[in-house]
Amino acid sequence: MRREVLEAMFPYFQQVFGNPSSVHALGAEAAVALTEARTEVAEVLGCLPDEVVFTSGGTESDNLAVLGAAEAGRSRGNHVLLSAIEHEAVLEAGRELRRRGFDVEEAPVDAYGRVHPTTLAQMVRKETILVSVMYVNNEIGTIQPIADLRAAVRERNPASPFHTDAVQAAGTLPLDVDHLGVDLLSLSAHKLYGPRGVGALYVRRGTELWPTLHGGGQERGLRSGTENVAGAVGLSRALSLAAAERSDEAPRLRRLSGELIERVTAGYSRIHLTGHPTERLPGHASFYLEDRSGESVLVELDRQGISCSSGSACHAGQTDPSHVLLAIGLSPELARNGLRLTLGRQTSAENVAEATERLLAILTEQPLTV
Ligand SMILES: Cc1ncc(COP(=O)(O)O)c(C=O)c1O
Repeated sequence: MRREVLEAMFPYFQQVFGNPSSVHALGAEAAVALTEARTEVAEVLGCLPDEVVFTSGGTESDNLAVLGAAEAGRSRGNHVLLSAIEHEAVLEAGRELRRRGFDVEEAPVDAYGRVHPTTLAQMVRKETILVSVMYVNNEIGTIQPIADLRAAVRERNPASPFHTDAVQAAGTLPLDVDHLGVDLLSLSAHKLYGPRGVGALYVRRGTELWPTLHGGGQERGLRSGTENVAGAVGLSRALSLAAAERSDEAPRLRRLSGELIERVTAGYSRIHLTGHPTERLPGHASFYLEDRSGESVLVELDRQGISCSSGSACHAGQTDPSHVLLAIGLSPELARNGLRLTLGRQTSAENVAEATERLLAILTEQPLTV
């Protein structure tokens, strides 16, 4: 977590610990902080403060969007459309909707992981009550053409709300909700150097949503529970700092991850980039290996002090094929071999050079030269 974020949150754990729903002065002070945090988030999203609902993170925001929009739309239809490469928070919410009797379909992606506006539009029906396509995929870094997808859906069914999971995008990509055209957008603070366990859902005015948590009616009745004031302050500060630094940080990260991808794929012929070569999240380098599991490389890199991901869930030593890698057309064997390196604020050019050399040394089984 960023130091500035921690410092902004600090007073709300001690001096200003009132419950924002309380009428007394201590509560009112906390309520002011919550309003300021909401306004700060709204400024980055280009929306009204009361369109921001604070949640416990990306998973809850995705569940509230998917379950909430579907339940609210029951009288208009029962068809829900998700992309095949959504995060589990959306896909599992979709499975829950199937259990509740909704007709949930998954839109396919191309070999780069992109959803095509024409394909999506063809799948939209007049009884479609929600479309959800993530802004950036966490495993392969592909950026979706959200504004084009939104426009294509609107042409076929102007009444269907459009949700995007922007959890991965929020640190480095523009988030203006009007430019994106979305009605619902999920955020999570810990992907932005903010605290874990806090997020937000943007809900465009007029978008009908049923709550998933029932209780005291906080957050305009959409998310009951005593508000996490320190968390909201942390999220808002992290988001506005990221937005202010984006124009410098995004090109820096793009350059560094571009170098990493180029050198790794040039240095070993049996590793291949996954995701889009250019329309990808700055700082995101993802691959699949022809000849070994990502997990085996991950363990060796970890031993050398470099943390990366294999991009697929692992249960008791058994690696499941990644649903994302399957969706882009890899075989179940290769879909177990994902490897993902992500760079961040503290990652320097030297770190990238060293990680590249170490990775290549592992892959080629050659001694390290740096
Ligand atoms: C794309 C995406 N959506 C949702 C989530 C879930 O967010 P959280 O961990 O805040 O619940 C994550 C994070 O792992 C993610 O990468």
